[in-house]
Amino acid sequence: MSVDIDAAVIANRRLSADYNVLSLAAPEIAAAARPGQFVMIKTSGGQDPLLRRPFSIFEILRDAGGAPIGVSIFNKRIGAGTTLLSRVEAGTRLPLLGPLGRPFEPVDPPAEAWMLAGGVGLAPFVTLAAALAERGTRSTLFYGARRAEELYCVELFEAMGVTIVLSTEDGSRGSRGRITVPLAAALETRPLGNPVKLYVCGPTPMMRACAQLAHAHGRACDVSLEQVMGCGLGGCYSCVVLARGADGGVPHHTRTCIDGPVFDAQRVVWDAVAAH
Ligand SMILES: Cc1cc2nc3c(=O)[nH]c(=O)nc-3n(C[C@H](O)[C@H](O)[C@H](O)COP(=O)(O)OP(=O)(O)OC[C@H]3O[C@@H](n4cnc5c(N)ncnc54)[C@H](O)[C@@H]3O)c2cc1C
Ligand code: FES
Repeated sequence: MSVDIDAAVIANRRLSADYNVLSLAAPEIAAAARPGQFVMIKTSGGQDPLLRRPFSIFEILRDAGGAPIGVSIFNKRIGAGTTLLSRVEAGTRLPLLGPLGRPFEPVDPPAEAWMLAGGVGLAPFVTLAAALAERGTRSTLFYGARRAEELYCVELFEAMGVTIVLSTEDGSRGSRGRITVPLAAALETRPLGNPVKLYVCGPTPMMRACAQLAHAHGRACDVSLEQVMGCGLGGCYSCVVLARGADGGVPHHTRTCIDGPVFDAQRVVWDAVAAH
C-alpha cells in the first residue's frame, strides 16, 4: 500500500559534486517498503519541474529502538530535479509517494545472491542486501564505476557481511575494466549444482551484458529498469518497455512502474530498451 506524504528532509549528505544521500522522514513508507521498490519525489515547490521523479529507496532509516522512521535516496545529479535534490536543506518538506513498484524477491539458502551494480545503480541494493542477510543468504556485490572516487557506500554492504568485488574502468580500485569481467570469471568457475541468482541495476548496456552472461550460464537474473517515469502509478504510459509474457509469449508494451521496475531479464526485449 503506497501513501503520499509531505516528508521533511532530515539530512542531506554530500558524497561528491554529483552524488548525495538525502534522508527523509517517512515512517509509513519505511515500514511498508520491500527491497528494490521506489518512491516518486516532487523536487520543487513550484511548477519546474512539474512532474515527480522516481528514486529507489536506498536505506530504511530506524530509530534507536529499530522502528522505521524514514528512507534515504542516493541521488545522482543529472538534470533539473536531481540538481534541486542535491541542494535541498534539512527541514524542507517534499511530497513523497511510495513505496511503489514490483520488488526484488530475495532467494533463500542454499542459493546465493549476486548483486551487480553500475554507478547509481547501487541504489536498490542496500535494502536487498539487508533482506538477504535476514534470511541467512550469502551475497556478493559486484560494483563497477569509472574511477575509485565514484564507488560509494561500500561500507554499508561490508557491515552486512556482503562479499565485495569492485571494478573501475581506469583500474584505480578493484580490477580494471567493466564489472562484467569479474562476473564472467565467477560464472565460469561456479559449479552448476551451486545455485545463484543475479540481481542487476545500472546502465542499460551493462544490464543487457549481465543478462546475456546469466542466460549463457543458465542462471536466473532479475534486472531493475530505470525508464523515464511521469507518474509512477500506471496512468501516463511514459515508462513502457517491450517485454515478453511470463510464459515467454509475444512481446507487448508493459509499464515498468507497476509491472516493474524489476523484471526477469529474459522477458525484456533489450533491442527496444532506451540506452541510458
Ligand atoms: C525506478 C527508478 C529508480 C531510480 N532510482 C534512482 C536513484 O536511486 N538515484 C538516482 O539518482 N536516480 C534514480 N533514477 C533516475 C532518476 O529518476 C532520474 O535521474 C531523474 O528522474 C532525472 O530527473 P532530472 O529532473 O534531474 O533530469 P531531467 O532534467 O528530467 O533530465 C535530464 C537528462 O536525463 C535524462 N534522464 C531522465 N530520466 C532518466 C533516467 N531514468 N535514466 C537516465 N537518464 C534519464 C533525460 O532524458 C535528460 O537527457 C531512477 C529511475 C527509476 C525509473
Ligand atoms: S510512470 Fe506513468 S504509467 Fe508508468
